[in-house]
This record gives sequence, C-alpha cells and structure tokens, in this order.
Amino acid sequence: MNTSPGVCGVFEVIRAIKLCVLTIYSFIRHRLLVIKWAHHADNRSFGWDWKSINFNRIAVVNLLLSNYKNPKYLEIGCSTNILFDSVPTMNKIGVDPVAGGTERMTSDEFFFKNKTQFDVIFIDGLHTYAQARTDVVNAIKCLNRDGWIVLHDMLPQNWIEHHVPSVSNSAWTGDVWKVAFELLQTEGIEFKIVKIDFGVGVARVSKNNVELTDLTSKLASEEFNYYYDNIVSLPIVEWQEAQQWILS
Ligand SMILES: C[S@@+](CC[C@H](N)C(=O)[O-])C[C@H]1O[C@@H](n2cnc3c(N)ncnc32)[C@H](O)[C@@H]1O
Repeated sequence: MNTSPGVCGVFEVIRAIKLCVLTIYSFIRHRLLVIKWAHHADNRSFGWDWKSINFNRIAVVNLLLSNYKNPKYLEIGCSTNILFDSVPTMNKIGVDPVAGGTERMTSDEFFFKNKTQFDVIFIDGLHTYAQARTDVVNAIKCLNRDGWIVLHDMLPQNWIEHHVPSVSNSAWTGDVWKVAFELLQTEGIEFKIVKIDFGVGVARVSKNNVELTDLTSKLASEEFNYYYDNIVSLPIVEWQEAQQWILS
C-alpha cells in the first residue's frame, strides 16, 4: 500500500504552519520595533514604484562591464546570487559571510587579504553607513584607474526602510544614502544615483589615491528627515541619462 500522499500532506501542513508562525512573529517584531523607535518616525515618504521601472542593478552592472574586454568584477554581499550569476565575466569574485558568491567571509576580512585589482565593484553587504563607508574606502584602494564603484539601496522611500537598526519587515536600505553625500563632495569621483531598483549609486573614480570626503561627524547621527530635506542636492538621474553618461 502506498502511504506517500498522506505523508506528503502532513509535511505540507507542517510547512504551512511554520510559514504562518514566522509571518506572525515577523509582524509582531516589526510592530514592537516601530513603537520602540517611534521618536525617529517621519510620516513623509517618496512614491517611487521600483517595479514599474523596467531597469535594475543588473542592467547597470552589465552596462558598466560592456566598457571592458575582459573585466574584473567584485561583489560585496551576494545572498542568493541574483546579481552575481547574471554577470557575464569569468573574472569575478563574490564575498558574503552567509550565502552566495565565492568567498565565505565579511568584506573587511576579504579586503584585508585581497591583492587583486578590479574594474567594477558592487557594494551591497551590510546596509549601515559605517560599513558601506568602509567598503567604499577599501574598494577605492583596489580599483583600476577609471574603474567604477556601484552601491545598491541609496534611496529609501520612508523612515522604516532607512532606519538603523532595522525595524522593517520587508525592504531595508539602511542609511547607505549617507555615503552619497560624501561621494558627491570627493575630488576625483564623478557620482550619480540612478533612479531605479531602490537607488543605484554609480561612482566613476578617475584619479589614483582618491580620498573619500569624511562627513561622519555631521552625518552619523542624522535620521530620515535630513535625507528627505536634502535629497534635492543629490545627483539623482533617470536611466536614459545614466546610460549616456556610463557609455560616454
Ligand atoms: C541584499 S543582500 C545582497 C544581494 C545581492 N547583491 C543581489 O543584488 O542579488 C545582502 C547580503 O550581504 C551580506 N552581508 C552582510 N554583512 C556583510 C559583510 N560585512 N560583508 C559582506 N557581506 C555581508 C548578507 O549575508 C546578505 O547576503
């Protein structure tokens, strides 16, 4: 007698219960954290609908790589390899302490031992200002002349997506946006944020030994209201303008 359909059914039920418990846990945790951090709440938000724009970070990275014959690519933070596996070069390294990529370690550990120079570096690891800033400083040191640094998640929609520590139960950009104000003021770097896919920051580094402007003392304690009030000074561009710039 074949009992497997019944056993499969039990597994399905257990899986559904597990999913239900996790969803409820995540929702309750989110609500409690929002209450805890209510003094940082801001009811303003941007109405970007990323899904309605038919370009994403993968398009940006592939466009940048099309400038090269045999490019060297580095990705910090790979997760399920959605981007990493879409990059068509044999010379690629992916760094993640948890999943994906080729190197199972943190970005700090990787940069400490790394001897390779890259043409394009994509930074998408820990989404805090301090870590994203350190990743950019380290990336500049191992970038070939006229290379590119790309940062994901530069445009949070609201205070929940932005907040550090994370209070979100969906998208979390963190406060990576703070690095945008530093890149903008750095000599030897041309910088734009492409208005797609949670904000894709693109920096062309055209000089050797570039030193990232340090606004830590001013920005470290700033919250979503600072970003919202000052977003007009960020170089946010549509896909078409970014494409012309990257290929120029
Ligand atoms: C948003 S996911 C990356 C998504 C991927 N880049 C993509 O576009 O498909 C962020 C990843 O960063 C990793 N991460 C967290 N802290 C890190 C660190 N210090 N160094 C490198 N990766 C880190 C996490 O394990 C997670 O897998």
